[in-house]
Amino acid sequence: MNHFLDIDQLSKYQIEALLERAFSFKNTQSFPNYQSYPVAHLFYENSTRTRVSFELAAQHLSMPSINLPLQSSSENKGEVIEDTISNLAAMGIKIFIIRHQQNGLQQSLADSFGEAVSIVNAGDGTHAHPSQALLDMLTILEKKPQLEQLKIAVLGNIKHSRVANSFQKICQKLGVGELVMIAPELWQPQKTTFGRVTASIQEGLADADVVMCLRVQKERLGEGEFLDLETYKKEFSLNEKNLSYAKPSAIVMHPGPVNRGIEIDSAIVDSSQSCILQQVTNGVFARMALLEALVK
Ligand code: CP
Repeated sequence: MNHFLDIDQLSKYQIEALLERAFSFKNTQSFPNYQSYPVAHLFYENSTRTRVSFELAAQHLSMPSINLPLQSSSENKGEVIEDTISNLAAMGIKIFIIRHQQNGLQQSLADSFGEAVSIVNAGDGTHAHPSQALLDMLTILEKKPQLEQLKIAVLGNIKHSRVANSFQKICQKLGVGELVMIAPELWQPQKTTFGRVTASIQEGLADADVVMCLRVQKERLGEGEFLDLETYKKEFSLNEKNLSYAKPSAIVMHPGPVNRGIEIDSAIVDSSQSCILQQVTNGVFARMALLEALVK
């Protein structure tokens, strides 16, 4: 693999191999040494989990790692991202982990740089977040390995969610039994890769094995896309009553950052059903597996 841009570039076999490798890293804590593969982290959008877990993943694999502070980098003097990458590559950086607000930017960088460097998509706009899909699936497999028997419900702002987009693709590739996405009409996507969409929280969550809750993502809402938050909370927040429609054994997931009391009740975040911190733990191992897959 030269670049890691989205889930649809991978076969089912490649996804399974990445997940298996991630499990092996987690279970054995035995990590190879890739010290001749320097990595740069270029985060043009805020991040806690993705940035830190990629940094830790690189550290565990002994990959020299730089985190370019964009506020004080020469991009503030007008340098374009292509030149930033060319200059860092000239110093020996081989892998560029990029988060950016522009949909498709990482794909166009991969197209222009070809095999000269590896580009990793750490989230582009509302389009894709493929490493999140890997860690989400790792977490589901740990708890509920019979994917073809599962009903998975994703609840929240689906329309603006790169997490939901990549998650649909991994569910399709790995043969998840049923995927239902629940959102108010205004936040429903025009089309889906996999799964169906409903505005009925009761029907959508009924007998679900996995409930993934998404953030409202206020920063991505355009004109006419704002909903009254109080109404949203009343109708779509994951609270005790809504969660009771799912199976009692259902696990609760959230990619983070969590807005407690908005899309999900605080008590559910901290409940025994919550796998939210397990997702975060798994992010390190999933990202180790994918960084290793870029080593040539
Ligand atoms: N899930 C996720 O992408 O979190 P961060 O924005 O903190 O990286």
